[in-house]
Amino acid sequence: MSHIPVLLHEALTALCIQGDGTYLDCTFGRGGHSRAILAELDENGRLIGLDRDPSAVAVGKDLAETDSRFDIVHIAFSELESALDGLSISHVNGVLMDLGVSSPQLDEAARGFSFQADGPLDMRMDPTSGESAADWIARADADEIAHVLWVFGEERFSRRIARAIVEARDIEPIVTTAQLSKIVSDAQPKKDQNKHPATRAFQAIRLYINGELSEVEKGLEAAVNRLAVGGRLAVISFHSLEDRLVKRALRDASRPPQGDPRMPLPDTAAKPKLKLVGKAIKAGPDELSVNPRARSAVLRIAERTEAA
Ligand SMILES: C[S@@+](CC[C@H](N)C(=O)[O-])C[C@H]1O[C@@H](n2cnc3c(N)ncnc32)[C@H](O)[C@@H]1O
Repeated sequence: MSHIPVLLHEALTALCIQGDGTYLDCTFGRGGHSRAILAELDENGRLIGLDRDPSAVAVGKDLAETDSRFDIVHIAFSELESALDGLSISHVNGVLMDLGVSSPQLDEAARGFSFQADGPLDMRMDPTSGESAADWIARADADEIAHVLWVFGEERFSRRIARAIVEARDIEPIVTTAQLSKIVSDAQPKKDQNKHPATRAFQAIRLYINGELSEVEKGLEAAVNRLAVGGRLAVISFHSLEDRLVKRALRDASRPPQGDPRMPLPDTAAKPKLKLVGKAIKAGPDELSVNPRARSAVLRIAERTEAA
């Protein structure tokens, strides 16, 4: 059930931690990255952890009780500015986002994320709010389901699978991960030898139910607003849709303003708020040998400029 932090050394190096700085871990999880950050802070340093999952927050609360430099807030990271406001922090020296789900979330059948372990079809990172996957599957029409499977899972058999889901739920409600996994697998005309046939559909529904891509978009924007000059942003993503979004957002924020190239820019023109740092980083063979989950991880880094 434990979670091995991914790209730990690389993420810490990326943050260029100052002992007395203030840092924000937007995805506390089980605190692997947070504990490593705390180990580099001196007694004046500060770390804020965020997570939308109450079980992660419970672990964070235990840590906060033993380490006064640390605070945990139960919130989605798109709302990170209000979390910082609540702690009277205007800017931070570094922000980490280790996106997606944690191993405990995936491993615990009752959370309903896994097609490999049978459990209630939930998939919410925060089970205290929003609509569960079962409720959405019960009410969405075939077009909406197909759209989600295509947009968030790049599932080429999206229409066929959506039809199968709608037909199956007319016979009995789809309330478990095993039911959904079987319906999706049976509807696949061609199976990919290297992937479970329900992989893409489960990914798509999870991303949709948790609004993950819009969270990343809003979270990155908020992080840039709250980074101090010279502060680092380190983002680890786990699949191509997420990484594409991160890459584009960082690139756009690090580009000079688009204007007529023949005209000089006025002094008041917006300057880029970020500077990209190095290239995308992936896990090396040593890490992969102990943590296969790091296989798809990509770390991207940027630094806050002086631009207002
Ligand atoms: C990959 S895990 C992070 C693991 C962590 N770095 C560690 O070492 O234990 C991602 C965590 O981020 C949380 N999370 C994902 N999206 C979130 C969001 N938009 N807002 C807040 N927390 C989020 C998940 O609930 C999960 O606990």
